[in-house]
Amino acid sequence: MPIPTPHISAKAGDFAKTVLMPGDPLRSEFIAKTFLDDAVLVNDVRGVHGYTGYYKGKRVSVMASGMGQPAIGIYSHELFNFYGVSSIIRVGSCGSFHPDLHARDIILAMGACTNGNYASQYGLPGTFAPIADFGLLRAAVDECDKAGVHYKVGNIFSSDVFYNDTHSGMEFAKMGVLGIEMESAALYCNAARAGKKALCICTVSDSFIYPEENTTAEERQNSFTQMMEIALAIAEE
Ligand code: HPA
Repeated sequence: MPIPTPHISAKAGDFAKTVLMPGDPLRSEFIAKTFLDDAVLVNDVRGVHGYTGYYKGKRVSVMASGMGQPAIGIYSHELFNFYGVSSIIRVGSCGSFHPDLHARDIILAMGACTNGNYASQYGLPGTFAPIADFGLLRAAVDECDKAGVHYKVGNIFSSDVFYNDTHSGMEFAKMGVLGIEMESAALYCNAARAGKKALCICTVSDSFIYPEENTTAEERQNSFTQMMEIALAIAEE
């Protein structure tokens, strides 16, 4: 596939080896403007802002994924397979249904369950278990410990449905799953298929157990800085 791709207008070499990937294009802009020196806009197709700059001298990119597995499936596929990107670190928000997790705590998604059929494209005679890259996960654990943030490592549930007529997602809690979001499983599938690395770090924006703690849209956009700094610290050059 020649570049630019159908969804990314960047040129060869415009992206760093590691791309941080929030869902929200405004959060991508926030990360670039807050943390990166000499950030250059490398993509804005469909308003999906991508920037490359330097974090403490290390070349890093950030680009939004949009919401849902089909969207992150497209962007991570093109970055891994056509732009030479080695690692994608999703920095997202999630709902939590674990009693030890409160709003603003962090989930490091070691694995991702899903109700979606993204992995059916591989034609496997069984169920594929999408998992994070162990090196990125270990580095993120070390950074969380250093920063003194409250976090948990475990399974997350990537749902294809936000407004679900029948299920809350909470059904997965009985299997020890920590929380719910909408992208990690497809990202992990694409990394596995491409032989690349991925990790999903999520800040809890809403708790199913403590709904009174839920964060506002503005807080979601601007105040998840700890998670972003952890992702930037573990980005490989
Ligand atoms: N469901 C799905 N995705 C989410 C949620 C949720 O409750 N909270 C943040 N992302």
